[in-house]
Amino acid sequence: MPLAKGLFVTFEGGEGAGKSTQLRLLADSLRALGREVLTTREPGGSVGAEAVRHVLLSGAAEAFGVRMEAILFAAARSDHVEEVIRPALAKGTIVLCDRFMDSSRVYQGITGNLEPAFVETLERVAINGVVPDRTVIFDLPATIGLERAQRRAGDDSPDRFEKEELETHEKRREAFLDIANADPDRCRVIDATQSAEAIAAEVLGLVESLLANAEVSAPSNAGSTP
Ligand code: TYD
Repeated sequence: MPLAKGLFVTFEGGEGAGKSTQLRLLADSLRALGREVLTTREPGGSVGAEAVRHVLLSGAAEAFGVRMEAILFAAARSDHVEEVIRPALAKGTIVLCDRFMDSSRVYQGITGNLEPAFVETLERVAINGVVPDRTVIFDLPATIGLERAQRRAGDDSPDRFEKEELETHEKRREAFLDIANADPDRCRVIDATQSAEAIAAEVLGLVESLLANAEVSAPSNAGSTP
């Protein structure tokens, strides 16, 4: 059953916090409730953005500096927003996105040491008014997150951003918590050390409360003739 306006939910946090698993679980639960759901991720999620993803995660762009990387993340985001997210929301779909603008604020802005004005400008251009209705931040001590990410990667070498120092990962954790504090209407923090079942129930609860509001504020068709 499509909503009047769609709902945009982003999942954010450090490595190994279980975001991707939880995103799948939430999508399954919402579909079981009869909702139309689109799951997507960044960097990537559209044809153009997926082409840029490999350049970023392989580390191929690292040599050109953090400004270049930030612009590439923004280019990928712009394509993703215009080609995939905005059209889905217009159809009333619930869009669940694994990472979005807050990852750029944290990875490129805070731990990449880019000037805030530069990061803000890129964000404005890339999202072009498409702001998440809800951002779920998965909070986990960096040591646990890294251990989990390494276990998950097995023999694969860590990506460009996973291989950084523990101190950097801790800084990112703090930065995500700062974002949540600064924007309490949009953001909710989840303790990602809990069991997967407990987290899934909490995440579903957060989105269900939003859905209830979306339906209350949507124009009612009650009483209209078909
Ligand atoms: P990925 O393997 O998709 O996932 P995850 O860590 O979410 O399981 O890796 C994405 C990497 O890209 C991750 O290390 C964070 C980084 N990233 C940025 O630096 N800036 C961004 O704007 C985004 C979306 C991701």
